Amino acid sequence: MFAVFGNPIAHSRSPQIHQAFAAQERRKLIYERRLVLIDDFERAAREFFATGGVGANVTVPFKYEAFRLADVLTERAKAAKAVNTLFWRDGYLLGDNTDGIGLVHAIKELLSFSLHNRHILLLGAGGAACGVIQPLLQQQPASLTIANRTVEKARVLAREHAVNWCELIQIEPHYDVIINATSGSLHGQEVPVAPIVLARAQLVYDMMYARELTPFLLQAQAAGCTKLADGLSMLVAQAAASYEIWHGFRPDIRSVTRQMREEMEQS
Ligand code: ATR
Repeated sequence: MFAVFGNPIAHSRSPQIHQAFAAQERRKLIYERRLVLIDDFERAAREFFATGGVGANVTVPFKYEAFRLADVLTERAKAAKAVNTLFWRDGYLLGDNTDGIGLVHAIKELLSFSLHNRHILLLGAGGAACGVIQPLLQQQPASLTIANRTVEKARVLAREHAVNWCELIQIEPHYDVIINATSGSLHGQEVPVAPIVLARAQLVYDMMYARELTPFLLQAQAAGCTKLADGLSMLVAQAAASYEIWHGFRPDIRSVTRQMREEMEQS
């Protein structure tokens, strides 16, 4: 039995995504949404694993609680300081984080875009940004720079990971790839990045996704950037990495991303 834990959770596409993966290998899968009260995650998770649960995805706002709950953490979960994948294995609870590898797979495999030797700009310094830094660095970019509205947070995160930082409103226009890990799009807000910075980028990726272009991607489009992508591909790719951990099968992410896009456009 598998599930995704979050609050809110009704909107989660994880059940459809995991069922689509299971269909690829003709596996029968039980994968449910579990709405958890804000201070009830640990109890709910323990009960789930004590009653036949094998694996769980964990989403907002419980990734830090999941990090604390896990008996053993993977290196990438430690680096992210957050867990989005729990696996009950041999009597202990393994905590992993597939968000960053999901982003990297989405960019490399679905967009056919190599991050090697590129200058990467990461916008935001919250949990979403923290979770993707190490997997991005593993691609050996020419540089990685963090810019954040609250500059002190960018400075702290950059120091922790030995990367660069800069002020959001003073970004030099020389980045190949710009990744938006702020929650601006979630609140329908633009991020104050100069149009010239967006115009020079070869790829602008928003970790948020929506039926239409997100506010940040609209901003990049208006600035003249032509290669735009939203976070639906990352959502599918992080789910695929969880699926592979649990079932030992690597799903095809391209067809499922297409299917999810179509479902989103029809809903
Ligand atoms: P998450 O876990 O999704 O990263 P978070 O930890 O609350 O959420 O972080 C949200 C990030 O989005 C922060 O970097 C925040 O900037 P501040 O640190 O200055 O608060 C950033 N953010 C949210 N709305 C933004 C906006 N309109 N413009 C720029 N940055 C924004």
